[in-house]
Amino acid sequence: MKEKMSDPIILNPFEDVYSPSEDSYLILDFIRSNISQEIFDEIPIKEIRNILDLGTGTGIVAIFLELLNLFPSQIYASDILQNAIKCAQMNEKRNNIENKIKYIHSDLFESFPNHLKNSFDIIIFNPPYLPSIERIEKKSSDHSWDGGIDGLKVLSEFFSQVKIYLNRQKKCYVYYICSSKTNLDELYKLIKEKGFKNKVLMNRHIFFEDIFLNRAVLE
Ligand SMILES: C[S@@+](CC[C@H](N)C(=O)[O-])C[C@H]1O[C@@H](n2cnc3c(N)ncnc32)[C@H](O)[C@@H]1O
Repeated sequence: MKEKMSDPIILNPFEDVYSPSEDSYLILDFIRSNISQEIFDEIPIKEIRNILDLGTGTGIVAIFLELLNLFPSQIYASDILQNAIKCAQMNEKRNNIENKIKYIHSDLFESFPNHLKNSFDIIIFNPPYLPSIERIEKKSSDHSWDGGIDGLKVLSEFFSQVKIYLNRQKKCYVYYICSSKTNLDELYKLIKEKGFKNKVLMNRHIFFEDIFLNRAVLE
């Protein structure tokens, strides 16, 4: 299985699309370390139906999952940026897995079709999590990193909307990234208020911040 676990080939010709960075690779590393033929994290693989990579950017996470060829599931990838959808579709072709991933151009869940309500067993979101004040010169658009005053703008809206898209017949899992620059007290408080139990799964120190991969599960 190891040979299936290398990074996908990712190119990014778009100025406004986020190129894979430490946070993207933290997600890939977690998946690599926690997957076998039968189980991903705590979930039996054969029970996973729909997976969503929200804010897919270049498509790196969705394509990595598809290349593993382990999930019987449909993999969806969405982004607020039309160029991200184009970029992910191009990268999907580059990795010889044409037309497997389903794409949705949407601001969070706004344009998701009704039939996807109560359908996702796993949702992965590497959101814009930095406070606006942390403006750093990046090539990608503000959508990639700007999480508003305290880094919570998109994440808090996400946690308000996500529940109805989770498959609540079973235990379902939300994986997301945040940073030591995000207002973590406020974030974990609001996640608890929305009915989720949160666990930090991995962290990594980069430049002036620590980034965290979290798992939120409905209680
Ligand atoms: C930090 S980048 C992560 C990209 C990719 N998942 C990765 O790990 O490399 C955040 C992504 O979320 C997208 N995004 C930001 N706000 C969004 C929203 N409201 N709805 C959907 N996608 C959003 C951005 O366009 C960007 O592609």
